[in-house]
Amino acid sequence: MKNVFVMDHPLIQHKLTLIRDKETGSKEFREAIKEIAMLMGYEATRNLPLQEIEIETPICKTKTKVLAGRKLGIVPILRAGLGMVDGMLNLIPAAKVGHIGLYRDPETLEPVEYYCKLPADVHERDLIVLDPMLATGGSAKAAIQFIKDRGATSIKFMCLIASPEGIKVISEAHPDVEIYVAAVDEKLNDHAYIVPGLGDAGDRLFGTK
Ligand code: URA
Repeated sequence: MKNVFVMDHPLIQHKLTLIRDKETGSKEFREAIKEIAMLMGYEATRNLPLQEIEIETPICKTKTKVLAGRKLGIVPILRAGLGMVDGMLNLIPAAKVGHIGLYRDPETLEPVEYYCKLPADVHERDLIVLDPMLATGGSAKAAIQFIKDRGATSIKFMCLIASPEGIKVISEAHPDVEIYVAAVDEKLNDHAYIVPGLGDAGDRLFGTK
């Protein structure tokens, strides 16, 4: 699929193995997710526009490039997306951080937004939505729609592990959104967990299991 970028860099794959391992504790899990997010962010920002400026080195004047000042934003989907924020901010410290939280209505099974706070100028920003696991795609699809409804026009989605089903859901619902993923796993199980996956990313990040 042309809007899906699988980042199979050896460093990313090595750290993915660490977070998949059930023996890895919360501290190491958190650190590895942060590092993977940073490595992925490096690739996901590859096409940021540059502009030429003139500076003076100790030797002479020269024309050189800096980021063109395009405004960036990152939006973690609560709560597991929070684990990816610090890694992204290490790379792009000037990015604004929005947050979005959803729950599934027990009767309609539809995702309902319970929290959304985005930068006021969201329509001017290139946004990267973060969630480590893209499973059924239901919440990511809805989160992206809620963010678009608030005026965002430029959105990328970054996750660590995706299911083929989740990728299909996002690609069909949001063909304009590029998906950056470190691994596409085999399938979902009956409880909508990714197989082999890494279990519940939120629980493993925050030690709530
Ligand atoms: N969310 C998770 O944290 N893990 C999965 O496998 C699926 C959804």
